[in-house]
This record gives sequence, C-alpha cells and structure tokens, in this order.
Amino acid sequence: MKLIGPFTQILTMRNLPMKGTIKDEQLELIENGGIIVENGFIRQVGNYKQLREQNPAIELEEINTEQVVLPGFVDSHTHICYGGNRAKDFAMRLNGKTYLEIAESGGGIWSTVTQTRSKSPDELKDITLHHIDKLIAQGITTAEVKSGYALSVEGEKNMLQAIGMAKQETPIEVVTTFLGAHMKPKDFEGSNRDYLEHLVQEIFPVLRKEYQCNRVDIFVEQSAFSIEEGDYYMNEAKKQGFELTIHADQFTAGASQLAVKYQALSADHLEFSGKDEIMALSQSDVVATVLPGASIGLGMQYAPARKLLDANCCVSIASDWNPGSAPMGNLLTQASILATFEKLSMAEVLSAITFRAAKALNFSDRGIISEQKIGDFISFSTSDFRNIIYEQGQLQPTNVWKDGRLIYTKK
Ligand code: NIG
Ligand code: FE
Repeated sequence: MKLIGPFTQILTMRNLPMKGTIKDEQLELIENGGIIVENGFIRQVGNYKQLREQNPAIELEEINTEQVVLPGFVDSHTHICYGGNRAKDFAMRLNGKTYLEIAESGGGIWSTVTQTRSKSPDELKDITLHHIDKLIAQGITTAEVKSGYALSVEGEKNMLQAIGMAKQETPIEVVTTFLGAHMKPKDFEGSNRDYLEHLVQEIFPVLRKEYQCNRVDIFVEQSAFSIEEGDYYMNEAKKQGFELTIHADQFTAGASQLAVKYQALSADHLEFSGKDEIMALSQSDVVATVLPGASIGLGMQYAPARKLLDANCCVSIASDWNPGSAPMGNLLTQASILATFEKLSMAEVLSAITFRAAKALNFSDRGIISEQKIGDFISFSTSDFRNIIYEQGQLQPTNVWKDGRLIYTKK
C-alpha cells in the first residue's frame, strides 16, 4: 500500500453519465487530495491529510509541487504500426488533390502497405514502441493499435506479432485490433468479397490464440468496402464472438448503421454522419468515436460531436494516429481543437478521452479515479485542471502512473 500526494486537485471523473451532455459543474474536484494504491488498484481517494492520519504507517510517494491529477488518457483508435511515411500524399493534398483521388491513383493506404511489407516484425515492433513512448509522454495509459498496413496473410500476421511484442515491452496497456479489411490489396486476385472471405478463413481462426487479438475492424467506404461487404464481414466476426468496431461515415454516410446493427463497441470517424446515423447511434450502446486528427490532417469537416452529445450518444475522441490522414498523433491537442469548433465542455472533452474512450475498448475498470479502479493516472504542473484543455496540448503531463506505478516523469 502506498499513499501518493498531496495533489492540488484530483479530477476524479466519477459519477458522470456514460451518454449525453456533461456540464463542467458536474465534475468532482478534490482539493489537496491523495490516492492510496495497492497491487495496481486504487484503494482510496480523498483528502491527503486525512488519509495520512488514518494510515500512519503507510509508505508515502510525496508530490512536492503543484500538480493536478486525473485519470490516464485512453486512445481507442490508432494505426501506429507502419513503415515509412506519407509526406508526399500530404503535399499532394495541399496542392488540391483529395484523399480519395490520391488513394485511387495508387497512393494512400497502398503506399504505406508497400512500405510496411518491407519491414520485419522486429522493425515494426521498434517503430510501434517509439510511437507508444510518445503516447506515454502525452499521458496515454491505454492505447489501441490496429494492423491493416500489410494486407496479406503473412504480412498481417507479422503486424499482429509486432504489436504483440510491443505490448509485452511497454508498461501501458495495448489493445490489438485486426484491420486486415482496410482495403483489398492491389495484388489480390479476386473480388472484395473474396478477399474478406480469405481473411475470415485464414486469419480469424488464429487471432485469439496466436495474437491475443479479440477485436475486428473494417473500413467501409467508397475506396474500401461497401455496406453489403461490411455486413457480410461483421456478421462473420460477430458469429465468432469478436468485439467489433467500424471505420464509418468518414466521407459518405451509412456504415455507422452497420455498427448499430451488429452492436459494435464503437463506430469511428463519423465526419459525414447525418440525422439518421446520429439517431441510430443514440439509440444504441455503440460509442461514437470522433477523430479530429483526421479532420485536421485532411483539412475537412469535424464529426458532429455537439449534435451527437445533444442526441444522447456516448462520444469518445481518439487520435487515429496514422501516416496518411492523421500524422500528428497528439490526442490532447486534437481534442482541445475539436472542443473549440464543436463547443464541447471541458467535462465532455475529458470524458471522451478517459472513461468514455475506455468503454469503446470494453473496459469499465479505468478512466476514473475511484476505489477499485486500475491505478492509471497522470498529473500536470498546474493548479487548475482547465489549463490542460486551455493550453491545447502544450501543457503535457509531468508524471504518469500505470497500475499504481510511476512509469514516466517529464524531463
Ligand atoms: O482512419 N480511413 C481509413 N483509415 C485511416 C487512414 C489510413 C491511411 O490513410 O493510411 C483513417 O483515417
Ligand atoms: Fe483509422
């Protein structure tokens, strides 16, 4: 057992609704707080002095500066296992070409596929870990990582292996998602449907046992897979008990309804979701994950986060960090920028990158500082939590704890 503190403020994020709007006044703030951790879990949260008096013999981890502590951030959507970069695509977009035009002319995802296929699992692991270290410095204690940049049975297995090795070597929690259905690779002979069947036959059977992967994703879009094809694939994945998520409504609406039909954990992107999609999502348990990093990277509209919240959806925000559409890889910056355009309260933004993002990954044990939750929390050198969003990602965590253990201190 250990008592960590005193913290100027503890922003617990507890007793907040999983769906819909949240006002800043609903946030619980404990001034001069302390956190007791044991065996990786939070045992008690409260006033530091009182906790110390109640536990006179407890080991102390003293905080000697002004610090605001809040739950570790959860990034529920990343593609950080990849080779090469796509600065060339970025330059083409600045010159007026669209993402879909670049994809159709052989750039886009395919260009990352060729660069990723040339890497060994060890090299891909190192690249992934390098990215994860950057996430840790931003306060992320749980990160999802997708495959989907090799698009052959052998290459996807290499990616899954690389992500698995990275998971072993980093202190933060990594959740692996299989995104073999990112697009049909150009060297596959057969239809989109044939390719999806091939994945179902060749990769689904080994995902859990060999790669500890229980999550399946598909990109449903003009340049990737149709709604009908997505329907087939989601149905197969659902039958086999995988957790589901979909790249939905990024350029054209519709696929989020598929997420609702198959009770996916989340529908991600949603830039083009309209009334019907928002309504369907709001009546379901599907987390609406918005990805402002892709809007910033592509120079396109943000997902309608305000409307989604007002319609009572569970909105989370993720970075979508990838070499194509979202190269920045800074969740806090992106979430803070989205907030200004979409008029999200600080409470809504912070919920979207803590306990609501955890729900998108099917975790109910994190994203909140409270008894029985995992000891994942981060502190910032400030006396007012609002500065974290106000500084739009420039204020970075000073300390990061994972499972109650200090894993990072800013230099
Ligand atoms: O989430 N939209 C599909 N997939 C990624 C982008 C992949 C890429 O361009 O490399 C995304 O934006
Ligand atoms: Fe993505």
